[in-house]
Parts: sequence; structure tokens; C-alpha cells
Amino acid sequence: MNNLLVTGGAGFIGANFVHYWLSNHTHDKIWVLDALTYAGNRANLDPTDNDPRFTFVHGDIGNTTLVETLLREHSIDTLVHCAAESHVDCSITGPDAFLETNIMGTYSLLKAAKTVWLDEPKAAGQEPALHRFHHVSTDEVYGTLGPKDPAFTEETSYAPNSPYAASKAASDHLVRAYHHTYGLQVTTSNCSNNYGPYHFPEKLIPLVMTHILHDKPLPIYGDGLQICDWLYVEDHCRGIELVLKKGRIGENYNIGGNNEWANIDIAKLIRRLMNEAFAGDASLKSRYSEGTCAAVGESEQLISYVKDRPGHGRRYAIDATKTNNELDYIPAESFETGIRKTLTWYLENDDWWRSVMYGSYQQWMTDQYTS
Ligand code: NAD
Ligand code: TYD
Repeated sequence: MNNLLVTGGAGFIGANFVHYWLSNHTHDKIWVLDALTYAGNRANLDPTDNDPRFTFVHGDIGNTTLVETLLREHSIDTLVHCAAESHVDCSITGPDAFLETNIMGTYSLLKAAKTVWLDEPKAAGQEPALHRFHHVSTDEVYGTLGPKDPAFTEETSYAPNSPYAASKAASDHLVRAYHHTYGLQVTTSNCSNNYGPYHFPEKLIPLVMTHILHDKPLPIYGDGLQICDWLYVEDHCRGIELVLKKGRIGENYNIGGNNEWANIDIAKLIRRLMNEAFAGDASLKSRYSEGTCAAVGESEQLISYVKDRPGHGRRYAIDATKTNNELDYIPAESFETGIRKTLTWYLENDDWWRSVMYGSYQQWMTDQYTS
């Protein structure tokens, strides 16, 4: 039986992790700590609200005292750190929040974990109990690859190219240092791009889906030939679970789906699947009457090549051999099954994405794509 603190649990990966964990670990309890920034959505956790094993705490990871209190009072033994500023484009226009949350916020969590899990038992003459600080990180810390380069392994040197990636790299180093210097029981996972339910519509896959439904342009950066390695979010959650159960303390584990796609091909695939979904379900046409032209077939003209992201990597690809071999990790979803599940979720949950596409999201769209 474990007591988990999940930071950033109202975000995309955090919320999926909470749902996954509660479904698969009957006796565990979860506390979510989330500041509910523009990317955090309390409604992502609605399905767990009546679950007595779940508690939501509205607060900032930078509040070290609050984190210490949570760890101490709820006998937390496992911290899964998902809270972050996570959107590369936002890190280009406003890096400050990225350094504050991703670096200083992670530092604050590490300080709190050290106090409660190491210093307090030591002061009481006790050995520290088993604990785990798991840091959820990204493949973007490794930089970018040429077309024929081997995929990133855990041995690849860090070479971050955006303020987002640099801030995540710094946080990875801090987590490592707290293990080597103080003996904190840490693990880190570096994962490729995720997709699936609750993905904020500023990101490529949900952006393409929601824009097709509104007959709006599909903005493709540069030539659209940049390649990402996509993983269904529940497969990421299972990877984190395996690292928590079987991972070696102090180690990094790459998690990925061996699934490289050029951005333009993703947009074309989603168009095709959307057409199939509309052809197979007549009720969708009336439900999404605001923009059914594209959804029923005429969406080629929506593709709109726009100015490239500065510092944009050409190719990201994860070599997850270590995780596959040591932890028996194999993704359950192929891209075909995962993307179909995702499209079905977005078509069935328009209340969710309509409600998050207001306010700061609208402002971001205007700032991002007007020029
Ligand atoms: P997200 O932006 O959807 O969610 C981040 C969550 O953190 C939000 O709920 C937000 O409110 C919360 N948060 C932000 N600042 C906070 C603070 N100071 N205190 C408390 N909560 C705060 O991000 P995501 O896509 O779910 O990513 C989660 C983690 O996974 C990040 O660390 C990211 O670097 C990593 N990651 C993401 C991907 C991906 O494809 N999305 C891939 C690999 C790794
Ligand atoms: P994105 O979904 O923003 O994820 P990340 O923050 O991890 O980069 O971007 C995925 C890829 O899609 C990336 O190569 C940038 C590209 N992209 C576009 O071409 N157009 C868009 O409007 C967005 C948001 C992303």
C-alpha cells in the first residue's frame, strides 16, 4: 500500500496518471498538488472526485512548507513529479515561468523531500524509510537528431535547444544531484511526445482535431517534415509505474513508442480518420455542424504552412531498449489504435475541450498565429 503525491495532477499526463493508478492500485491513496495554471484543469480529475482514495490540494510546488506538510501529514512515500510549464512555444515567448516552475519548483520539491524523508528521521536517530522521488522528464533534453542518427539513449549527452528543454535538463540534473549528494531515492524518466485524452488543445494532435471540427486552418510549422516519436499517454503512465516498481534508484529510463512521424503526416492521418469517423456515424454531422466541411472530407485546403518555431528540432526519437530490457516495458497501443482512441475521446468529450478553449487559450492562439 502506497501514499502518492502527484504534482501537476490536473494537467495532461498527471491526470491520466491519476486515473491509471487508481484503476490499477486498489489500496493506494493519491494526493494531487496543482497550481491550476492555464494548462491545469480541475475538471480533468472529475472522474475521481467521489473516490475516497483521492484528495486535491490547490497549491504551488514552489511552496516548500506546504510540500513538507503534505509529505509528513499524509505519510507520503512516493512523489511523482509531473508539474511543469510544458509548452515549447510558450517557453520561447515567456521563459521566466519555465525557469521558475521547472527549475526552482523542482528544487523546492527536492528540498522538502530531503527534509521529511532524510533529515527528520536522521534527527530522530532513525534510518530513512523507503521513499521515491520520481521525476517525469522529456526527450527534448537530448536536443535534436539528423535523419540517420541513432535514437537517444540514456547515455546521449544533454543538448537542450529551447528554454523549455533547458529548464527540464536543469531539473534532471538537480534530481540526480540530490541522489548523489544526499542519498535521496530518485528515478527519472525521459519520455517522447505523448498524445491521448485531456491533451490541451494548444498541442499539435488535439489542435489538428479541434481545428478540423471548426473548419479552421491547420498550422504546420516550417516544412512540416520535423519528426517526433509519439506515445499514447497511458503507455507513458505504465512506463512510470514500471520505473516505480522495478527501476533502480538513481537511474534514468527512456520511455518511447518507437513511432516516428513527420508533423505533416500526422495532420494528414488525422484528416483521414476524421473523415472515416464522420462517414461511419451520421450523428456527428449535426453535433459538429459549425464546421463539418473539413470533417466530411474537404480538409486538404486547411493545411497552412506557417513560420517555423525558432530552435525547432528536426527529429526526436527515443531508444527505450534499457527500459524494455530491464523493466519488461512494451507499449500496449500502436499509433493506429492509440490515435483512433484519442479521436473518439475528443469527439465524445467536446464539453471538455470547448471549456478549455477560452480566455488565456484564445489569447495564446492570437499571439501565436496572427503574424
Ligand atoms: P501540462 O502542461 O498539461 O500540465 C502541467 C500541470 O502542472 C498543470 O496542471 C499545471 O497547472 C501544473 N503546474 C504548473 N506549474 C505548477 C506549479 N508551480 N505548482 C503546481 N502545479 C503546477 O503538462 P504535461 O504535458 O502533462 O507534462 C507533464 C510532465 O511531463 C512535464 O514535466 C513535461 O515536461 C513532461 N513530459 C511531457 C510530454 C508531453 O508530450 N506532454 C512528454 C514527455 C515529458
Ligand atoms: P507540440 O504538440 O507543441 O509538442 P512539443 O511542445 O513537445 O513540441 O508540437 C509537436 C510538433 O508539432 C512540433 O514539431 C511542433 C509541431 N507543431 C506544428 O507544426 N504546428 C502547431 O501548431 C503546433 C502546436 C506544433
